[in-house]
Amino acid sequence: MPEAHWKLTEVPVIQGPMAGGYTTAELVSAVSNSGGLGSIGAGYMSPDSLRLLIQKVKNLTTRPFAVNLFIPTSPAVDLLQVERMKKLLLPFYRELGMDSVPELSYDPDLFQKQFAVVLEEKVPAFSFTFGCLKPSEMAALKSLNVFVMGTATSLEEAEYLQKQGCDAVVAQGLEAGGHRGSFLDGKFPLLPAKNLVQEISERFQIPVIAAGGIVSKADMQTMLSAGAVAVQIGTAFLVCHESGASQEYRDLLLKGKPKDTELIKVFSGRWSRGLSNRFSREMKIHETDTPDYPIQHWLTTPLRKKAQESGRPEFQSLWSGQGLGSLRACSVAEYMATLSR
Ligand SMILES: Cc1cc2nc3c(=O)[nH]c(=O)nc-3n(C[C@H](O)[C@H](O)[C@H](O)COP(=O)(O)O)c2cc1C
Repeated sequence: MPEAHWKLTEVPVIQGPMAGGYTTAELVSAVSNSGGLGSIGAGYMSPDSLRLLIQKVKNLTTRPFAVNLFIPTSPAVDLLQVERMKKLLLPFYRELGMDSVPELSYDPDLFQKQFAVVLEEKVPAFSFTFGCLKPSEMAALKSLNVFVMGTATSLEEAEYLQKQGCDAVVAQGLEAGGHRGSFLDGKFPLLPAKNLVQEISERFQIPVIAAGGIVSKADMQTMLSAGAVAVQIGTAFLVCHESGASQEYRDLLLKGKPKDTELIKVFSGRWSRGLSNRFSREMKIHETDTPDYPIQHWLTTPLRKKAQESGRPEFQSLWSGQGLGSLRACSVAEYMATLSR
């Protein structure tokens, strides 16, 4: 076992970055002010909104916090498949009062613009998923002394991230809520967080952060004993008062059980763990004919947005880890106290 130490925060807890408006400035700063590391999930944010959010967090805490981005991927575009998917999605759009599937709208340079903001704002820590930074991007962060964390779902991915110069690796177990970060070609590893942490920490020097299904101090201690230097928690922070999650999403998480989650591809084209709902059940049979991420993500974005505005969780992506059953609606300070005591 390598002598890896965690010095970034007082409490070895990272609030998982969660793109989609959940990581408000209040959530991120409250975690950092409670001795953990708050993270901004900025994957879908415009550069201007990201800059404003970073500045708001800086006004609310003097402690370290992180920003997280999605490494861009180049999907194979099959126009016929996109047309077939639009036909399948149309009835859901109609149910929400929209008469067509909107044309795809996206900015191909979004990552570069977001990354420029991260550098300009000199954030203390940066994490990423779905791949790895280019050497020049890694060097730019290192020259600013930014602590860099990549996401791995296997030993090979952890080794790759270590070689590319990451300061720590987030070991994403199969229990974790949200998208799988797997990025090595044709591989789809599904290892429990504890096993993944053990394997990586026994073989490599890189500090390991455990992610997936962690809610309590006992869960955290299991991961630290397995070799993790810290834990990354997502779902349990969604039900904290400061999160940006809607009331209906919180209610479903609070009454959910681990068996209510499943791996779903039809929302975004990338496998994600979330609560099963009408959309995931009815679209499941089309999994193999779903356009790759981010095309499917773009195709369903207006539907999910409208569903959220209309309070219709049956058409929303309700990402959740398997640590359901003992979540508590409380403030970040109260939740962090249960982990620090
Ligand atoms: C709603 C939601 C959104 C997420 N978005 C991101 C993201 O943008 N980037 C990322 O690296 N991880 C993302 N994740 C993963 C979390 O950062 C964290 O690793 C994961 O939630 C840990 O598992 P848990 O939910 O069982 O605690 C997301 C998870 C959830 C639940």
